[in-house]
This record gives sequence, structure tokens and C-alpha cells, in this order.
Amino acid sequence: MDFKIAVLPGDGIGPEISKVGVDVMTAVCEKMGHKVTYTYAPVGAAAIDEFGDPFPESTFRACMDADAVLFSAIGDPKYDNDPTAKVRPEQGLLAMRKKLGLFANIRPVQIFPALIHKSPLKAEIIKDADFICIRELTGGMYFGEKYQDDNRAFDTNAYTREEIERILRMAFEYARRRRNHLTVVDKANVLASSRLWRKIAKEMEPQYLDVTTDYMFVDNAAMKMITEPAFFDVMVTENTFGDILTDEGSVISGSMGLLPSASTGEHTPVFEPIHGSWPQAKGLNIANPMAQVLSVAMLFEYFNLKEEGALIRKAVDDALAAYIRTPEIQVEGHTAYGTKEIGQWLVNHINEM
Ligand code: IPM
Ligand code: MN
Repeated sequence: MDFKIAVLPGDGIGPEISKVGVDVMTAVCEKMGHKVTYTYAPVGAAAIDEFGDPFPESTFRACMDADAVLFSAIGDPKYDNDPTAKVRPEQGLLAMRKKLGLFANIRPVQIFPALIHKSPLKAEIIKDADFICIRELTGGMYFGEKYQDDNRAFDTNAYTREEIERILRMAFEYARRRRNHLTVVDKANVLASSRLWRKIAKEMEPQYLDVTTDYMFVDNAAMKMITEPAFFDVMVTENTFGDILTDEGSVISGSMGLLPSASTGEHTPVFEPIHGSWPQAKGLNIANPMAQVLSVAMLFEYFNLKEEGALIRKAVDDALAAYIRTPEIQVEGHTAYGTKEIGQWLVNHINEM
């Protein structure tokens, strides 16, 4: 394949892990006979500094012209501590989602056997956990009508049939390619929007008789995720619930630094780590690049290049097993590796594989 990739390094540790992702992508492309070209574009605080806009038109264009976006992280404390700031880096993320029509966010929760002891949960509870959460990403309260004055405020959790159907269809299809089990997470005992989700899911069920579909209230799902995560195969939910549940899911595996995600929809798909920009670690060469690297695996898999994806997954597993690890997941008796050194190790290893 001939890949055109838009690279959006963003803020904080973003540029450091982005470089590792790009180097790994290049190494895999060289090995497997693909061509790849990269276009770099600013996003988040970096783009505010340069253009006064966290998702400038030029960055949008670069994304639209690409086959895929390799995104790293955005966020800068200088905006967090300023409630009067008119533009914030996070708005860049929301603008990117909306403008690229990225209605589905796919976040896998996966256990790395080498790191099972790092999880706050007991090994026997998590050892068989392997599920994906599909979060609706361009609707609900994030984008619904909002109002605020000094005495009253609201956010509207609006969903249309079309928005619900397309994300449910994707979830049913994913379940089909996995273990044929779909859990629709909602709050249908209280919310009208959830009742519509559930109604539509029930209407669609007969088209997917090979998939076992169950329905779970979000509060119960939050509990089940930590008491019996192996119950889940594919979970689908609305934007706000998905935001909360995927953070919960990320700690199950033991390190946020290992989990990638994909956002797909109407235009160019985006691949990114689930963690944030960790500004305190910027430039210190301590950020774990593995989530970014695994997001490159998801990128290849999106284009049905399974062997390329598997190559990256194996390289990451081998690195972890050989204690090629950043400080937050290193064990006693082994020296921690830097972001750059891990990148170099992965590239060498891929070349030799
Ligand atoms: C996420 C983040 C974003 C969200 C923020 C930064 C706007 O928490 O990607 O989960 O809430 O969607
Ligand atoms: Mn979140």
C-alpha cells in the first residue's frame, strides 16, 4: 500500500511518543514493502500558539488529504489553570472529531501477561479480560444544546436514530468478528435517550442472530467491569458513559501507557494512545511510547494488514518480556529505558524479525 499519514504530535509528551510511532511505522513499511509519506500538522496548545486555533483549517486539510491520522496527545496546564481562557486545547480534539465525522471510538482493554502484577485488581479477576469498548463520539451531551447563566445550566443528551443505528451496526459487526457477544450499556431506567438506544438495538437484534446481545445499566456496567471484566466482549455506549467507562477500563490493564485507540467514521480515521499529554514529563524521555506504537498496529489492522499489525504487537510483547520498559512499569533489578531507546530497540527488533 501507499500510505499518506497526517502526523499530529500535539502537546506535552506528544512529540516524543509521536516520533517513536512514526519510526516504527516506517520500519514496518520498509520491511513489508509499503510506501509511506508523512505530513506534520499542529493541534492543541501547539496550534493555539501558532494559529490561535487548536484545530486550524490547515490541520483539518492535512487530515482530510491523508489515509489515516497518527495523533498523539493534547493539553497544556497553562490553559487548565485559566478559567477565562477562550480557546482551550481540548476544543481542538472535539473539533477534530466533529469535522472528521469520527463517530466511533474503539478502545480495547487487554491484559499484558508481563504486567499483570501492575494492575490494581487481583490477577485472578483480570487474567481473562479482553474486551473492546465502542464509544459514540460525536453526539450526546458533548455536542447537544447547552445553556449556562449564574442560576441555571443544562447540557442536552440528544441522539437521533441515524446516529444510534450507525454506531450499533458497527458494534454488532465487531462482535461478529470477535466472540459474538455484545453488551449495550445505557441508563434506560431513567433517560429517554437511553430508551431510544435500547429500542433501536432490539430492532436490530434479529439481523444479528449469531450475536448474543445483552443490556446493562451503566452503573451496573461500571461495577461489572472491575468485578468480572472477562464477562465483556464488545461493549457499546453513548459518548459520556463511554468517556467514563473507558478511563475505568484503562486502569484494569495496569498502565495507561499501553492502550491504543482508534476513532473512525465518515472521513479519515484517527489512531492515538488513550492517555493524555502528561505535561510534567515533557522532554524528560520517560514517557511510555507503547500505546502510540500499538495505535500504529491498529492503523495497519484497520486497512486489513493483519501481518503488519501482528508484527508490531509481537515487538511490543517481546520488549516488555525483555524488560525494555519505561520507569512506571519497570521492575526491580532492571534499569528503566527511555522513550527514545525503546523506539530504537523496537525498530532494530522489527528489522531483525
Ligand atoms: C477523552 C478525553 C476527552 C473527552 C477530553 C479531553 C475532551 O477525556 O478522549 O476521553 O472527554 O472525550
Ligand atoms: Mn476521557
